[in-house]
Amino acid sequence: MIRDELKTLFLFEALTDEQLDWLARHGRVEEFPPGGTVFAEGEPAEGFYVLLSGTLALSRRVQQDDVETARTDQRGAYMGATQAYLRDDPGVVRTYQASMRAISDCTFFVLSAEDFGTMMRDWFPMAIHLLEGLFFGMRNSQAVIGERQRLAALGSLASGLMHELNNPAAATVRATAALRERVAGMRQKLGMLADGRIQAEQLRALTQVVEPILERAAKAPELSPMQASDREDELDDWLDERGITSGWDLAPIFVTGGIDVTCLADVADRVAPELLELSLRWIGYSLETEQLMSDIEDAGNRIASLVTAAKQYSHLDRASHQWIDVHEGLKSTLVMLTHKLHGIEVVKEFDRSLPQIPAHPAELNQVWTNLIDNAAQAMNGEGTLTVRTARDGDRVLVEIADTGPGIPPELRQRVFEPFFTTKPVGEGTGLGLDISYRIVVNGHGGDISVRSQPGNTRFQVRLPLNEPASN
Ligand SMILES: Nc1ncnc2c1ncn2[C@@H]1O[C@H](COP(=O)(O)OP(=O)(O)OP(=O)(O)O)[C@@H](O)[C@H]1O
Ligand SMILES: [Mg+2]
Repeated sequence: MIRDELKTLFLFEALTDEQLDWLARHGRVEEFPPGGTVFAEGEPAEGFYVLLSGTLALSRRVQQDDVETARTDQRGAYMGATQAYLRDDPGVVRTYQASMRAISDCTFFVLSAEDFGTMMRDWFPMAIHLLEGLFFGMRNSQAVIGERQRLAALGSLASGLMHELNNPAAATVRATAALRERVAGMRQKLGMLADGRIQAEQLRALTQVVEPILERAAKAPELSPMQASDREDELDDWLDERGITSGWDLAPIFVTGGIDVTCLADVADRVAPELLELSLRWIGYSLETEQLMSDIEDAGNRIASLVTAAKQYSHLDRASHQWIDVHEGLKSTLVMLTHKLHGIEVVKEFDRSLPQIPAHPAELNQVWTNLIDNAAQAMNGEGTLTVRTARDGDRVLVEIADTGPGIPPELRQRVFEPFFTTKPVGEGTGLGLDISYRIVVNGHGGDISVRSQPGNTRFQVRLPLNEPASN
């Protein structure tokens, strides 16, 4: 009787009468009331289930929630030990991949995984070879692709770093070449001086003029392109009126150095008229060399910070864990970063009763440094930095909160990506949070997340109280 029913299912329609008999003998019929659990995700997959009547639902567990993935009342729908015929291999899953429960009264035809496997292999040997080929072939190519992707990620990391290093390195070379030229020019002017063509007191007057101008240049406000070109025209005219040739190449230098017509008039008052052009050239050289030297300095700093970041990266695998009090690291990091926290109020909300945790202290300091650094930069010298610790179940929570402008929702997902930065070229490498993520998640089995709204951005790090069970 069950035999006749089986014959009506699409799955079994091509079977011979003997085969149907075999199925009827080895299988069984099971019934479940509404709400009844047929099998649960993660349990050993012992049965192959074919729906005869009723409505069922499949669900998977995603963290705390059961998410329904399918619901069907189709006769003949099958689930459970659907991979039972695959040969033994560590890659073959032998547990239920979802939970199944009855929505209405349900009837199933059930074969044990073992019978189902034997039946498939005996009756359809060639099909099994093909299925296995498909299954294992797919898995191997996935493994190869996964490996490739890892290599590609590593490669793009290296090339990102190279790219980042290339700019400041090239800038240094350029600036040094230009500097050499300017210094040669200054030497030449000095030669004229040695020839006695410039009087000593004239020279003194000149050096006295130059110093305040250099100081002023360092503080010169950034001009808009419009303002700059207006200013340049004014200076051009002024230089022309005084018969100073090639004013066109001095004017832009003066503009960048924050020099205006009043300032030039001031210089003209102080030096002898026949020395005006020479003096202005000298000032031009001084401004340029000063600018070039600070370019080189910036590039050097940038290279140094990239190298530090690279070092943080490469040290990650050397982790040796010890039992530490997170407060020690937080306090010393705050001390190290004092210079970046000018104007910012620092609030420490420490839960002193926290137990020690297994961690790599130097790495955690890097995390705190990166988070505090970001917070300080976001607040730009004004606001409150709150460093909070608390116990959160079987984890320690460390929260770095700032009152800066926050992270727009569309960027929140991206901040942990390597080289993602919203800071101007030369200020951020975009590696800070990526490194922190690796340290917390990969290195410590913890978790790092961010909540942000304007005036309240919180980076939360959760670290397990106990050593991870495996490896
Ligand atoms: N506290 C914060 N408030 C606002 N934006 C933040 C904050 N922390 C991070 N961000 C955003 O996330 C981006 C990435 O941060 P990350 O620390 O990875 O790189 P970075 O600070 O730009 O450069 P680096 O840290 O390498 O010098 C930042 O550019 C910034 O836009
Ligand atoms: Mg940063």
